[in-house]
This record gives sequence, C-alpha cells and structure tokens, in this order.
Amino acid sequence: MEEKRTVCVTGASGYIGSWLVKTLLERGYHVRATVRDPGNEKKVKTLLELPKASTHLSLWKADLAEENSYDEAIQGCKGVFHVATPMELVHQGQDGEEEMESTTLNGILSIMRSCSKANTVKRFVYTSSTGTITVQAQPPLHEYTEDLWTDVDLCYELKMYGWMYLVAKTTAEKAAWKYAEENGINMVTIHPSIVLGHFITPHTSFSTDVATAFYTKNEANMALLKKLNGSNAVHLDDVCNAHIFLFEHPLAKGRYICSSHTVNLFEIAHSLSLKYPDRNILTEFEDLDRSPKIIPCSSKKLMALGFEFAHKNKGVCDFCAETIEACKEMGML
Ligand SMILES: NC(=O)c1ccc[n+]([C@@H]2O[C@H](COP(=O)([O-])OP(=O)(O)OC[C@H]3O[C@@H](n4cnc5c(N)ncnc54)[C@H](OP(=O)(O)O)[C@@H]3O)[C@@H](O)[C@H]2O)c1
Repeated sequence: MEEKRTVCVTGASGYIGSWLVKTLLERGYHVRATVRDPGNEKKVKTLLELPKASTHLSLWKADLAEENSYDEAIQGCKGVFHVATPMELVHQGQDGEEEMESTTLNGILSIMRSCSKANTVKRFVYTSSTGTITVQAQPPLHEYTEDLWTDVDLCYELKMYGWMYLVAKTTAEKAAWKYAEENGINMVTIHPSIVLGHFITPHTSFSTDVATAFYTKNEANMALLKKLNGSNAVHLDDVCNAHIFLFEHPLAKGRYICSSHTVNLFEIAHSLSLKYPDRNILTEFEDLDRSPKIIPCSSKKLMALGFEFAHKNKGVCDFCAETIEACKEMGML
C-alpha cells in the first residue's frame, strides 16, 4: 500500500517544490524529497516540520549536474514530479549556456534514465513553463495554446530579458518528449505562467522577487517586475493541485497550460498602493503601456479534463499581497 503512494519531488526546497511536498503529504502520499544539500538546515527545516513529515517524508541528496544522482530516490516510486531548475538562468545570457546544458537539459534526461532503470514509475510529471510556448515571431491572435513551441532561434536573436531560461526550458522539454517517446515513459508536462501566492520556502525565489519588487522597489528586481505587464499569472496552490491532478488523472496526456489570470501592472500597483498606503508603492512605470495587449495563456485543456482553479475569483493583486505577507511572516521583509 505504502509503495503505491510513494512519489519523488525534485527541487523540493524551492518555492513550488515545497508547497507541492506539503500538498502531497496532506493527501496521504509518501514523499521522497530531493535537495542538493540535506544538511542545509535553513533550507530543509520547513519541510521536516510539515504535518506528517515524520512518517511520510524522507530527504534525498541529488544534483541535476550529476548522472545517476536520482537513481536511489526514484527506485520504487510510482510517480516523479520533476520541479528543480536553476532559476538563476533568468538573470543570465550567453554565459548561462554551459549551465543550461549541464543542469536543465542533462538533468531532466538523467532523471528520466533513473525512471527507466527503476521500472516502477507510472507517470513522470515535469514542471515546464508557459515560457516554452509564448515566444513567437507571430503571436496568436486570441490565446496561447499547448500546440505552440517557443522559437529558440528567436530567443538567441532577440536576447530578451530571461532568454537563456526560456532556451533552457524549451530545449529540455523537447529532449524530454523525445526520450519519453523512445523509451516508453508516461510523461505529462505542466506549464504554469508566473506563479504567485502564499508559500513556505524560507528563502527568496523568482516569484517572491517579482511580488516584493512593488513593495521594496529593489532596483535589481525592477526588470522582473516590468515583465509582469501584459503577462499571465496563476496561484501557487492551484499550480500544485494541478500537478497532483495530472499525476492522478488516468486520461492526462501531453502538455497542459496552468494559468488563470492576465496581468496589468498598473492595476496591481494601484490596488497595492491602497493596501499599503505607508509604503509609497510605485504606480507609474516609464516606457510601459497602461493598457497592454494581453494574449491569455489558455488552460482550457486542463479544465476540460475536470480541473478547477480554486483561486480564480481573487485578483493578481491578492496573489502579490499574499506573497508579500508571507515574506513578512518569514522575516524576509
Ligand atoms: N516560479 C514561477 O513563477 C515559475 C513559473 C513557471 C514555471 N516555473 C518552473 O517551476 C520550477 C520551480 O520553480 P521555483 O519558482 O519553485 O524555483 P526555486 O524556488 O528557485 O526552486 C528551484 C529548485 O531547483 C533546485 N535546483 C537548482 N539547481 C539545481 C541543481 N543543479 N540540482 C538540483 N536541484 C537544483 C533548487 O534546489 P536546492 O535547494 O537543492 O538548491 C531549488 O529548490 C522550475 O522548473 C521553473 O522553471 C516556475
């Protein structure tokens, strides 16, 4: 019985990984959580203190850059959620190419080889991104859908903000689909847009940097913040529920966008300025369009399978405020 419910989560100490571990434990799963350094008390304490952790959670040391690193953690698991990615790639250009290959690309293939060796894994769920879909020379008129693939050549040509991350995620996902087809791995990919909301990770991350930039006006995170305008977003809780939904659903197949909101930066800033009147929240952004053309990332395929977004009635402003409040609770702000 225990074996049936044993799953592995990579990148378990991260923003999404830790909430996914928490949700899986709440649902009664036995979770093997991989981290690069199980001895890093600051990073793993929150995981070890989760309800049911003493009976249902184990920590495993593994690194994307090391072949066979995930073999032991995956052996005997019925499911693998591959969440880990070096998010620093968002801030890198050409200099990140080597790391991109050694971690994001070789990492996913190495984990899939571990799944093949284990021969117990019924489904492999990979946390991809809408970033593997939305870079198009001619964007769609109405919505982004799962049949689109980011144009990697265009990323190299335009070198837009975060381009090496987009190249990494797209290249890795394509290679993963090829491996899955050639080796009979049952893979499902989930594509969140920008993820925001209350969290438990005891350190900052891409998502906390985005949300808190409104509040701190940290110069280094302003480029990130501006990327929000005209983009798409989704709540962390919905993202993690969707991971488990796709793992459990017998008919899940292929790629699934997971995104519930479109984002107007000016509207969020205005709402946050009312919520935090003493913070002098930035409400004006030079060079940004007040009414950007927003192409939604469509989650119709996910919803057609029966998934419901629990946080659909909140606004992105609420997601940001939750993130800011969680940062405050953890002493990050
Ligand atoms: N946050 C978003 O808005 C967003 C949106 C779309 C998709 N995603 C995807 O969601 C996933 C998780 O993102 P996140 O926001 O949760 O990021 P995060 O908080 O930075 O977590 C990423 C995790 O990856 C692990 N990692 C990094 N380099 C590694 C390596 N060489 N070997 C093993 N593990 C490594 C880190 O684990 P250690 O603790 O071991 O260092 C870290 O916990 C990523 O795949 C990302 O592409 C995120």
